[in-house]
Amino acid sequence: MKITITKKLLEKYPNANFIGIVVKNIINEKQNKELEKEKRKIEEAIRKKIKNPSEIKLVKDYNKFFNKFGKTVPIQYQLESIIKGKPIPPVSGVVEVLFMEEMNDVVMLSGHDLSSLKDEIVFDLSDGSEKYIKINQKEQAIKPEDIVLKQNNEVITSLLYGPDFSTRITEDSKDALYIFWFNEKISKKEIDKYINNLKKYIEIISVKETKIEMIYGCEEMEVGKSEKDYIVTPWEVKGDVDYNKLIQEFGTKPITNKLLKRIEKHAGKVHHFLTRKIFFSHRDMDFILDQYEKGNKFALYTGRGPSGTTHIGHLIPWIFTKWLQDKFGVELYFQIVDDEKFLVKDLTLEQTTAYGYDNALDLIALGFDPKKTKIIINTEYSKTLYRIALKIAKKITFSQARAVFGFTNESNIGIIFYTSMQGAPCFLPSVLKKKNVPVLIPAAIDQDAYWRGIARDVAPKLGYYKPAQLHCRFLPGLGGISEDGKMSSSQAHTTIWTTDTPEQVKKKIMKYAFSGGQDTIENHRKHGGNPDIDVSYQWLTFFEEDDKKLEKIYHDYKSGKLLTGELKQILIDKLNKFLANHQKKREEAKKNIEKFMLRD
Ligand code: TYM
Repeated sequence: MKITITKKLLEKYPNANFIGIVVKNIINEKQNKELEKEKRKIEEAIRKKIKNPSEIKLVKDYNKFFNKFGKTVPIQYQLESIIKGKPIPPVSGVVEVLFMEEMNDVVMLSGHDLSSLKDEIVFDLSDGSEKYIKINQKEQAIKPEDIVLKQNNEVITSLLYGPDFSTRITEDSKDALYIFWFNEKISKKEIDKYINNLKKYIEIISVKETKIEMIYGCEEMEVGKSEKDYIVTPWEVKGDVDYNKLIQEFGTKPITNKLLKRIEKHAGKVHHFLTRKIFFSHRDMDFILDQYEKGNKFALYTGRGPSGTTHIGHLIPWIFTKWLQDKFGVELYFQIVDDEKFLVKDLTLEQTTAYGYDNALDLIALGFDPKKTKIIINTEYSKTLYRIALKIAKKITFSQARAVFGFTNESNIGIIFYTSMQGAPCFLPSVLKKKNVPVLIPAAIDQDAYWRGIARDVAPKLGYYKPAQLHCRFLPGLGGISEDGKMSSSQAHTTIWTTDTPEQVKKKIMKYAFSGGQDTIENHRKHGGNPDIDVSYQWLTFFEEDDKKLEKIYHDYKSGKLLTGELKQILIDKLNKFLANHQKKREEAKKNIEKFMLRD
């Protein structure tokens, strides 16, 4: 049995904590004299000690959550009814021990029949689209930002509405899982006390064969995070990224065929980045299309952190952004964050600004419309941007930013404020146009923390639409995904720069591109290669637009007809052709750069 907690939930409720206790072979009697005696003791103690349940620290803590939804934590009412003389309700032993512990320590617990649970259950933040069948067999819609327990992506308990029907403890339950739920900070010492009290009650209805097993202590609660073999943050991408898990973790939506059809209605044949699920996830793309269909055009927003020259991985979201600009006829705001890279890298401000101008050439070279494209260099456009960033910063606490970005005491204070500078262009089109403009951000998923943690949170508080996102996967480095999760400027030998010569491209691919081929030509012809792990093939899924050609390459490589050297040569030719054109346009862009700059 494994319980995990999503990052999304911890970002919203950084102190949330859950402790599970598995109990096997418990005796589930209808009535037990010993339990009855204990229950009377608990009731008496409550009547003696508690005057006003709403004043108890834990009730107040739970109410911080419940009051947000206009509700009161149920244990407050339950305590009030005991004070008025009612008993802890009789049900059957396995459920009663739970009620007893709830009343004794003023904590919230859920209880589940172990046999109805799968091996993995997940604590998650609801997005408001979920429904489940409550214990009274009625369907319940879940509110956004409720804390929910899920299995197979279905809700089985909500903090607001309680347990579901399918995992309830019945008269026949012999094995159970009890979970303590905390939405506010709680010390290890307190938790140990609660666990021991629950165990004390369980022991009353135990036999020789009964086994009690703790599945979580406080510290282990972030197991779900540390167990992952990949990391995706704005400053670090490592390992074999599980994009489906990221959808869950970050609370985004997969791009479905239905959505593609909607995009196709306006754009015609959709881009191969969409059909191949290179752009795989989104937030609020439906809203963007709803607005577009009503005649309210959106603005595009994306950017670059100038820590060096541009590599071909950076071009992926920009190529797609250009397609969106062409198809929807919309404006692009492109932010160059020389401030961010100065703050996090060992570079001078003069260097990052200079790289910013250099990187802008790569954007312009892709053919963006100068009338509809506005490049912002943060340190040079700060008069306007700073005012928006201030309004954002005032609404974000340090604890919120730390939960999303993982800041520590060693983080410099500049980078903490910077988070609101990257949020600011989400509202810039609205500020400039003096009306509410929907904004769509195409970028790789590493940038998501800025949107889910900052911009989307403050948007309604400042009276703007929440910015929407389209997220892409990473173009891996030449070493393959197991070496580095994405192509990265810090791995120079496995990176292709937009300014590389044809010889450099050839040399790097021939030498470093991770191959899915066999060790000898004979073996390769006999067993074939593995395109799914072969970097040259993976890169062609980004750069070879023709589906038929790509499919043929896939089959020829898999069957052994195409050798690794030949596959690499196909990629080299493709990239060198693309780069020759790009470098020509890049030179021409030097004359036009000012046409694209937004100045204040
Ligand atoms: P930066 O400079 O790290 O990356 C620029 C853009 O490229 C994406 N990206 C990749 N996409 C595919 N494969 C890769 N290997 C790869 N590596 C990077 C990034 O997701 C990004 O979209 N803080 C940002 C700059 C920024 C920004 C923005 C980005 C400011 N505002 C709005 C996107 C949207 C940065 O340092 O990006």
